[in-house]
Amino acid sequence: MSSGTSIAVVGGGVIGLSIAWRAAAAGHPVTLFDPEPGRGASWVAGGMLAPVTEAWPGEEASLELGSDSLRRWPSFARQLTSDAFDPGLSMAGTVVAAADSADATQLGLLADYLRSLGREVETVIGRQLRARVPGLSSSLRSGLVVPGDLAVDNRKLLDALRMACERHHVDFRPEAARQLSGSSVSTDTARLSFDAVVLAAGARSALLHPELSDAIRPLKGEIVRLRARRGSLPPPRVTVRASAEGRPIYLVPRDSGELVIGATQYEGGFDESVKAGGVRELLDYAEQVFPSVAEYELVEVQAGLRSASSDNLPLIGPLGDGVIVASGHYRNGLLLAPITADAVLAVVAGDGLPGYAREANPGRMAGREAMSRE
Ligand code: GLY
Repeated sequence: MSSGTSIAVVGGGVIGLSIAWRAAAAGHPVTLFDPEPGRGASWVAGGMLAPVTEAWPGEEASLELGSDSLRRWPSFARQLTSDAFDPGLSMAGTVVAAADSADATQLGLLADYLRSLGREVETVIGRQLRARVPGLSSSLRSGLVVPGDLAVDNRKLLDALRMACERHHVDFRPEAARQLSGSSVSTDTARLSFDAVVLAAGARSALLHPELSDAIRPLKGEIVRLRARRGSLPPPRVTVRASAEGRPIYLVPRDSGELVIGATQYEGGFDESVKAGGVRELLDYAEQVFPSVAEYELVEVQAGLRSASSDNLPLIGPLGDGVIVASGHYRNGLLLAPITADAVLAVVAGDGLPGYAREANPGRMAGREAMSRE
């Protein structure tokens, strides 16, 4: 890739902004299309960078990709701090709590699975968990301590990425892309040509490219943001995850004093409304885990659309007509931003999809594999 290679990025969530920033920092003219950059699902996210506590038997490729991206996060955050400001990477770690005996059995199985993969996790009983995280419910049975699963302030991150893009002269076009090919982007008013076109529009990528219409679908999630009131117990310092009545829930603290509680998960098309029952569920379950939330101020409720693929792995690499896709990041968009940006830049450079990203090859959906470096 010569530093004159012009790149269009369609979509300004965490993936699109990260790609635009890294490409522009490498010296390329970059144009980013999004009517509302820095919003969408990335704005709603909890901010967990959690390959281990998101792990699920059968999804080892996701664990590997996520772990690789997590290793890239400290340097990604350092570079962003130098180009804009500190995105609020928290190194405090994560605990997972089991609410009842069925949850404790599930958690034990998860611990065994992770150990079988050589991952270090510490199992503790409820009393030990409460000693580490003051304010957890006395009814919790057991827990896992996973210090390596981190978190980032998603909104600081998005603002920092936008500033870093601006510093590197990314041309922000507040127009929706309507049609793409490997060398052009059409909006309602113009058709513009580029050397490379990257489709990073999350769930909406499915509406912009025929090869993605069955490969990516929206997966709605709601979050609740709370703030401790004067006199109430402060939020936990670490991310707390739990399963309540079999549904996963997380509580992610922010330096600002807010606590993000997430997230519901529904298949419901492109509907982004917040359901009263979803909010009730989140608050009920959060209170079972950390009872003081009932005293907190309700700051915000929001819904966003994750972009999910059929195997929960992202799609990163060239499509049939040369458009480079970077979408389908499921529950892991923030986590996978650094590795996705690195992989897309390698593809734009003509190096093929790097070996570390081979499982994300979009050709797997059509039985067509793009050339990879390994
Ligand atoms: N990353 C957590 C979620 O998607 O809810």
